[in-house]
Amino acid sequence: MPKNHPFADRWNHNSQQYPRVAELIADQQLVLDVGCGEGTLARYLAGQGHQVVGIDPDSSVLPDDSENTHFMIGDATGLPFADDSFGAVVSVMVLHQTKLELALVEMRRVLRPGGVLVNVGYARNKGVGETLVSIADIPGNLVGRVGTTRWEPPTIKMDALLGWTETRDAIESILPGASWERVGGWRYLSVWQRP
Ligand SMILES: C[S@@+](CC[C@H](N)C(=O)[O-])C[C@H]1O[C@@H](n2cnc3c(N)ncnc32)[C@H](O)[C@@H]1O
Repeated sequence: MPKNHPFADRWNHNSQQYPRVAELIADQQLVLDVGCGEGTLARYLAGQGHQVVGIDPDSSVLPDDSENTHFMIGDATGLPFADDSFGAVVSVMVLHQTKLELALVEMRRVLRPGGVLVNVGYARNKGVGETLVSIADIPGNLVGRVGTTRWEPPTIKMDALLGWTETRDAIESILPGASWERVGGWRYLSVWQRP
């Protein structure tokens, strides 16, 4: 129920997915949050026992380091880390703001073998089918936010250019075998484990 959700008091279409992201990377110690913004997801994951590095090009929102978090300026398309560095890479609502393929290649590169890459994002409705799926999300979202407090962090927002299917195809071309599903809040969730 939303009122028991850890982000019920900071509710938006991204934060509602943070617990799911945390579940998916529970076994990984060192985590990179790409496009971390003001750091709420990174701090949440650190609170669950992970060591988290957050990276974002927008210095105006990057927070100070806190326990088990380190934040730095950087870009998804040129991650300043060695190959095989992280057990998990997570990224929420970032791929549509950058060169998606380049960012995925970089996320894949810095992930160690066996590591988990989680992307949450959104896309543009292209065609009747995609529009209908998005319309079908409306009732669940209206019900889901009852009892929550809307949260609007001061991070950069942009419209998506790629459609949902285009985004899925692009992800699967870089990350063969990645899962991909539409989740609440007009988002997709994609998970890939590096062989
Ligand atoms: C909509 S915000 C999402 C922030 C955060 N992940 C969240 O869950 O609230 C998008 C973030 O992506 C960052 N961003 C945009 N282009 C980026 C890039 N090329 N590399 C890394 N981050 C980028 C923006 O600065 C912004 O903080």
